[in-house]
Amino acid sequence: MDKRNKKYFNNEKKLQTDIKHLLLTETFKMSLSIANGKCAAFKTDNNYSYFDLFAGNGEFGNGEQGSPLLVYDIMANHLNSRNYFKNLRMILTDKEVANIKNLNKLLSIKEKQTNDNRIQYIAEAKDWELCSNDIKKCLNASSWGFVFADQYSTELHLQPFIDLLQDSCRLKDVLAFYTYRTLSRQHGRACDNDVDRICKTLNITKEQFETEDFSEKFQSQLIENYSKLKEFIIGVSFPTTVNKKLITADYFYLVFATNSLKLVDSFLNAYEKALKLYGNYAPQHKLFENEDMLNIIIDSNSKNLSELFIYITKNFLSWKNIINNHLFVPTSDYLINKIQELSVQGKIKISAPEEFLYKNDSTKFKKAEISKSRKNMEQLKIEVIEKSSQGKLFP
Ligand SMILES: C[S@@+](CC[C@H](N)C(=O)[O-])C[C@H]1O[C@@H](n2cnc3c(N)ncnc32)[C@H](O)[C@@H]1O
Repeated sequence: MDKRNKKYFNNEKKLQTDIKHLLLTETFKMSLSIANGKCAAFKTDNNYSYFDLFAGNGEFGNGEQGSPLLVYDIMANHLNSRNYFKNLRMILTDKEVANIKNLNKLLSIKEKQTNDNRIQYIAEAKDWELCSNDIKKCLNASSWGFVFADQYSTELHLQPFIDLLQDSCRLKDVLAFYTYRTLSRQHGRACDNDVDRICKTLNITKEQFETEDFSEKFQSQLIENYSKLKEFIIGVSFPTTVNKKLITADYFYLVFATNSLKLVDSFLNAYEKALKLYGNYAPQHKLFENEDMLNIIIDSNSKNLSELFIYITKNFLSWKNIINNHLFVPTSDYLINKIQELSVQGKIKISAPEEFLYKNDSTKFKKAEISKSRKNMEQLKIEVIEKSSQGKLFP
């Protein structure tokens, strides 16, 4: 067994993997359930596919399950409930032959246990980039689905990944994992080889790479690239532990891309849950009172709800920020309620097309309609009337 392969086999499950798996499973469950409902309502293509490009060997040193098996369990449960899909498919790649061999073994055990042949899987021992044409065909063969890209550090080349998904993921959600620590460390003392790898991971040029503020560039580059695919892009960071103590640093980063605001919320709720569960830290809402919201609207210069939502998710969803500022996790539901409250109190003025406002009270808007899409959120214009008494909330 070569050194690299050994590393993958001895993989002890770490805190960051727990967090990653929690976010994957909660979001995947919701993605499948929303797709199931929509598909049943519209009577469209009734297949749903899960893609795991860096599938791993299916298990960890302590016997816990890897991502493909966790997803298999969710699919099996789903089939026993109100399932509309004819088939649930899994397309899995890992470039190590030994990993795929083990994964196939574990999946066939599951298959026997569930005794249900509606979950079809294919696990290929290949570098995903070398079979991207085949993966693209599978993407196009099923409208609904979920794509998970779980690299170790600089193994996911962003441009080919965007090319793979472009025009093939309209109704699919995308989750990608980045080890920010590795990227920033390599950025600090990069040799030519590292520069090349980081540029490919973030889809940046060598000139862009030389920017001093790597942290800013890192986030904005990812968000910009994923925005080519989807309406809502959420990036969250989380820490790791050393000697069972939390390290106050953004080590890992997950990007989630979707067109569904409901899914954004379920991703953010899972993030909040992970912070409470593993970080032993409960995000507090107390700082985010109406006064704070006014300051944030002013600071961000947001003209509508969509701009505000993007600003807040982009600027405050760092674990470091959450710990230091006791910020909350800004689900769209929470934001929409706050805006409504401020409007009713006369602190902001809202305007929107007639159909979004209540006829008898134009300080109130129809929350369900507004939260349907980013386009609708854009149409809810906001303007601060009563300037906050305090200065800027965050330096
Ligand atoms: C972090 S592990 C995946 C863990 C897995 N997703 C889980 O949660 O159980 C990354 C895997 O990617 C595989 N890998 C690395 N580069 C790859 C590539 N270009 N194509 C496919 N697999 C790759 C490695 O062999 C390794 O098993």
